[in-house]
Amino acid sequence: MSTPDNEREIDAVSGVETTGHEWDGIKELNNPLPRWWLWIFYACIIWAVIYMVFMPAIPGLPGAEGATRGLRNHSERVNVARDMAALEEARSVYFSRLTEADLSEIESDPELLTIALAAGESAFGDNCATCHGAGAQGARGYPNLNDDVWLWGGTLEEIRRTIRYGIRSEHMETRMGDMPAFGRDELLSREEVNDVAEYVLSLSGHSEDAAAVDRGAETFAAQCAVCHGDNAMGNRDLGAPNLTDTDWLYGGDRETVRETIWSARNSTMPAWESRLDDAVITALAVYVHSRGGGEED
Ligand code: HEC
Ligand code: HEC
Repeated sequence: MSTPDNEREIDAVSGVETTGHEWDGIKELNNPLPRWWLWIFYACIIWAVIYMVFMPAIPGLPGAEGATRGLRNHSERVNVARDMAALEEARSVYFSRLTEADLSEIESDPELLTIALAAGESAFGDNCATCHGAGAQGARGYPNLNDDVWLWGGTLEEIRRTIRYGIRSEHMETRMGDMPAFGRDELLSREEVNDVAEYVLSLSGHSEDAAAVDRGAETFAAQCAVCHGDNAMGNRDLGAPNLTDTDWLYGGDRETVRETIWSARNSTMPAWESRLDDAVITALAVYVHSRGGGEED
């Protein structure tokens, strides 16, 4: 819409025509668009037309999948599927090497070790960190996997077995070893539980009640030594922890030790055999083994 000549207004300072818009006394000048800007604008339009012809751009009709493919027949979905297939293939080469390799070979082969550690770390983050912590540092009831304290054994083979079959899990081959609930199931009286707790505390130098410790020692020999050992150093076949150190799975204060003996804990760790690839389980074992506490065969 052009402005009638008699309404045209020329700005006195710049000599440029105004658009007639005015805000609080400030008037808009009607300068032409800069040429460089116009050329970019036209180039974009041309580019858009070319793009529409060659690349997916126009949404498919209702019911049709995706958009038109364009003359290049391009599809990001097909590309992703192809990349994934290539990745699977590259990985399966490594994975089959991991599966076939002898456990002891993996750690002495730098290339295999790198693969195992990378795959193990990533699988650990996805599957194990919820319970054992992102750095495998553990939490109350969930063992720290970085130290050299092992309930079931710290060799590669033992670690792999733990991961594969779980602990008190549903798997037929699961690691088993249930501590009885001495108080709740009335195997011991409240006093006997307190005394034997006192004895347990004394093993790491945390009890002053010598009389209770003496009474507790008798109960321990009769009831607990079968699993925890005569010297209370534990038994890995049963997952019974060493009670003489200051490393506690559930806690070493008086109340917690009493509660452990009264109700027993018997926590479970799932079996991973049916959920994870065999190569991934091996990689996880190598990863856990490498974290500082790994034992030699
Ligand atoms: C649902 C929680 C949970 C998840 C998930 C879990 N764990 Fe465990 N894990 C446990 C518990 C609880 C124990 C200790 C059981 C016991 O008292 O013997 C344990 C014990 C272990 C042990 C034995 C430690 C020792 O001292 O002998 C290893 C090794 C282990 N887990 C590795 C893993 C790995 C690797 C994963 C991932 C694939 C994993 N765990 C996932 C709960 C879990
Ligand atoms: C049948 C074997 C068995 C017997 C008998 C047994 N325990 Fe245990 N005990 C275990 C196992 C296995 C664990 C680890 C349980 C778990 O992870 O939940 C354990 C754990 C413990 C813990 C926890 C240690 C920690 O690090 O937090 C204490 C304390 C303990 N037992 C004391 C005793 C005392 C005291 C007796 C005797 C009154 C006893 N146990 C008898 C198998 C046994």
